[in-house]
Amino acid sequence: MDFLSHHPPSQNRVDEDDLDYSRDPHWLRSDFLVHTNKPLNAEPCLLTLVHAGDITPIDVFFKRNHGPIPDLSLDHHQIFIGLTEKCSKPDEHDSTVPGIDWQVLSMRDIMTRWPKITITATLQCAGNRRDGLAAVKEVKGVIWKSGAVSNATWSGVRLCDVLKDVAKIPEKDYHRILRDFHVSFEADDQVHEDICYGSSIPMRKAMDPLGDVILAYEMNGEPLTREHGFPIRVIVPGFIGARSVKFLQKIIIQPQESNSFFQIDHHNVDQAWDSAMSLGEMNVQCVICTPTDEEIISTTAPVTVKGYAVSGGGRGIYRVEVSVDGGQTWEPVDKIKQDPDEHSGMYWTWAIWEKTVPKITNSADIVARAYDSSGNMQPEHPIWNYRGVMNNAWSHVHVT
Ligand code: MTE
Repeated sequence: MDFLSHHPPSQNRVDEDDLDYSRDPHWLRSDFLVHTNKPLNAEPCLLTLVHAGDITPIDVFFKRNHGPIPDLSLDHHQIFIGLTEKCSKPDEHDSTVPGIDWQVLSMRDIMTRWPKITITATLQCAGNRRDGLAAVKEVKGVIWKSGAVSNATWSGVRLCDVLKDVAKIPEKDYHRILRDFHVSFEADDQVHEDICYGSSIPMRKAMDPLGDVILAYEMNGEPLTREHGFPIRVIVPGFIGARSVKFLQKIIIQPQESNSFFQIDHHNVDQAWDSAMSLGEMNVQCVICTPTDEEIISTTAPVTVKGYAVSGGGRGIYRVEVSVDGGQTWEPVDKIKQDPDEHSGMYWTWAIWEKTVPKITNSADIVARAYDSSGNMQPEHPIWNYRGVMNNAWSHVHVT
């Protein structure tokens, strides 16, 4: 098609004060906690989230952005795919490394050349429950409560199919590239921290036929909405939400992780950014959604405690336990629902669980904790880190 250009457009870092939010979609729901409007960062209240059910409706799904939401066209959007053997310097952006032989796809190519598949996957921001770490000591970032997590169906094409057909990976180097390389994603949004939002995943995850990484153009059976990445985003099931890059524009196979601020500095538990490994798979998580903290409950009737649990890497939730005495004694929950993906057999979704406890006569500290299928369990207390990520301490609510 004529409009296809052969090189990705150049992008520039934009000063925070110069970011233009005038075309952002309007956000209206009242049962959300809006942390910032510019950029749009909002989480549903936990009652709304858990009552919405297993599949979170699009309007209830949490919104996490670092800049204005781009207004892209389905007909004109292009995705650039390239492979490089060169390492970029720390201050250089991946796609600015010279000598990449770019392959270009239109949205029509994506939607017609490869089979459309659907997966169900939970996205959780690494900063979910940052408030628990902020309570220990000051942290950097949006102070999310426990609603920066949601579950949806995502339809699109398998990244491994696209890369196999388009990326021109030399047969003789395939094993080495699969073992050592990373797939870097760069977006079409403007941010002030870097020239665009970007992130990467290991090549072995990208190419795993049972890893279910997809380039998604639909969410819950509808075209992606702008705030969730229209027209196309990556979905990396089992990984922290930061790797599921929205408004996808470039895919680069390269010998190192993305140099993006959002890979190296932003989503990391260690402040030695240059040498520390960046985050990938989620850890085991469990949160009580109802009753809510400081709720006044009936003292004459049983109480239903309900929440979500999720783990990373396709690990299932093996067990959830609830305590009504602050963690001295525990009982397993009565109901728990989590289905593996039909194709891969992996657990990419959360488990919604429920337990009815006999009436509580005095005030009580209700606690929940989960174990995943690898036997990982949550720590009793928050493990503080400067970026305030990966908080998965036991979940407490105090009721009277
Ligand atoms: N992709 C782009 N282009 N820009 C972003 O700001 N935020 C990331 C990820 N992908 C982001 C992005 C983060 S930190 C998370 S948790 C998820 O998108 C959130 O996706 P959602 O807004 O659809 O819930």
